[in-house]
Amino acid sequence: MEQLLQQIQDIQNEITAVQATSHEEVEQFRIKYLGTKGLVKQIMGEMKQVPNEKKKEFGQILNAFKLHAEAKLEVLQAGLGDEAEEDNGTDYSMPGDPTPVGTRHPLNLVRNQMVSIFKRLGFAVAEGPEIEDDWHNFGAMNLPLDHPARDMQDTFYVKEGTETESAWLLRTHTSSVQARVMETQKPPIRVICPGRVYRNETISARAHCFFHQVEGLYIDENVSFADLKQTLYFFVQEMFGKDVKVRFRPSYFPFTEPSAEMDISCQICAGKGCNICKHTGWVEILGSGMVHPKVLENFGIDPEKYTGFAFGMGVERIAQLKYQVNDLRLYSQNDLRFLQQFKSV
Ligand code: PHE
Repeated sequence: MEQLLQQIQDIQNEITAVQATSHEEVEQFRIKYLGTKGLVKQIMGEMKQVPNEKKKEFGQILNAFKLHAEAKLEVLQAGLGDEAEEDNGTDYSMPGDPTPVGTRHPLNLVRNQMVSIFKRLGFAVAEGPEIEDDWHNFGAMNLPLDHPARDMQDTFYVKEGTETESAWLLRTHTSSVQARVMETQKPPIRVICPGRVYRNETISARAHCFFHQVEGLYIDENVSFADLKQTLYFFVQEMFGKDVKVRFRPSYFPFTEPSAEMDISCQICAGKGCNICKHTGWVEILGSGMVHPKVLENFGIDPEKYTGFAFGMGVERIAQLKYQVNDLRLYSQNDLRFLQQFKSV
């Protein structure tokens, strides 16, 4: 009996002195003292030898002994909590790895900026389908059947037309959206039509089989060529700054009369002459004109009462001048080294 008490005392002292610096050591402690074959269980097994009158007293001693071991296990486990952080080599005060944030595509940035400038002038945004019928892309726009733009060279046909059925094609300009707007809305009309268009061109630094346009249409009473010029002048000043110069050259489009192309002073060389402006100091950025009376008539708009202007430009070209992009193909090659340069406008 004395011997047993001494043994318990020794084990308790031993337990008090134990230290652990890892999960394995804590586990070893648990197995040694509190496991199914551990010392606490062994000592409990000695209860049989204890005379009946001493059982109660001894039971209390044993219970305290067991609690002591369990409390120590908890202390050891809690102690590891702090030390574990150092153990696995992680410094939780270090800044985290940055999460890569995507960038907007340069064409979207420029398109958004173009749209916001025209919105400030009161233009609404209109959208339409990329697969169009012949009427909305060509016919309504006063493109006669033998017009070269209908040639298979330029247009991707999805379905050939027959005598009774329209041809289906990938729209070659977003004038098709203007057609849809005139079909459904009455003047005054003030819309811009941003969108992707397709032309069957050999892909090179200067041409692609698809590109993006922002076209515009303004129809109301007393709309004049002066309104057209001032609107477009305002646009380029907002886009490129107050110093930009513009010039209009007479041109031809089947859907406008008179028609004009607008050049701006080259934004790359400031008019001194470079590859982009072919050493002329001027770069063409858009086509425009007064809406042809026949186009208005096609949609039941009285050309005696209403006049309008229309314009169309390529987003790629505007972005090229803004960012000095000298190869159109870069826009669609998904090269992150190119794309990540455009964080904002
Ligand atoms: N639709 C013409 C094009 O795609 C651009 C344009 C629009 C010209 C409106 C004049 C008026 O080239």
